[in-house]
Amino acid sequence: GPWLAAAFAGGYLLGSIPFGLVLTRLAGLGDIRSIGSGNIGATNVLRTGNKALALATLLLDSGKGAAATLLALWLAGPEAAVLAAGGSMLGHTFPVWLGFKGGKGVATALGVLLAISWPVGVFACLMWLLTALVFRISSLSALVALAAAPFFGWWWTADVRIGALGAFIAVLVWVRHKDNIRRLLKGEEPRIGAKKKAPA
Ligand code: G3P
Repeated sequence: GPWLAAAFAGGYLLGSIPFGLVLTRLAGLGDIRSIGSGNIGATNVLRTGNKALALATLLLDSGKGAAATLLALWLAGPEAAVLAAGGSMLGHTFPVWLGFKGGKGVATALGVLLAISWPVGVFACLMWLLTALVFRISSLSALVALAAAPFFGWWWTADVRIGALGAFIAVLVWVRHKDNIRRLLKGEEPRIGAKKKAPA
């Protein structure tokens, strides 16, 4: 009904706030979209050399996904929470304010998963960290973590809605990493902390 539509729309609006772009602009670092990978996410903000700003981007992009999900859960129940979660993912990746050219959805996905089922979110964060410790590549860590999350989520919660949300998130994040996947296959994806511009 109208509550589910409102949850989706509210999630989209919260998700569409491009914190990485806003924060780097406020800090006088220019347009983040002309730096490194051109992405508006925390990994690319880190390439400006400002670690605090990258951390703030990570926390705010995660926080908006978690906030949208929890607000919908409290106001309208679990179905609305799943729709707000999906809406926030679409808002981050396709924000109307940026001509629908947004981010890759990794931080927002982690926030959404933590809010939907914290063990699933913790699992995804641990998978990201483990992969990052071994390979030191942000995109690869995201691809591994979010491919594994729906399987863990479905097994852990036995809730088909959470399995479906996890699968939707995984497909969206993988599609948004098309260029990263191409670079990974060519062995050209930059390591975390490298400031060199990624080859186009
Ligand atoms: O946060 C997105 C990350 O997985 C990749 O970012 O800037 O290296 O394309 P980037």
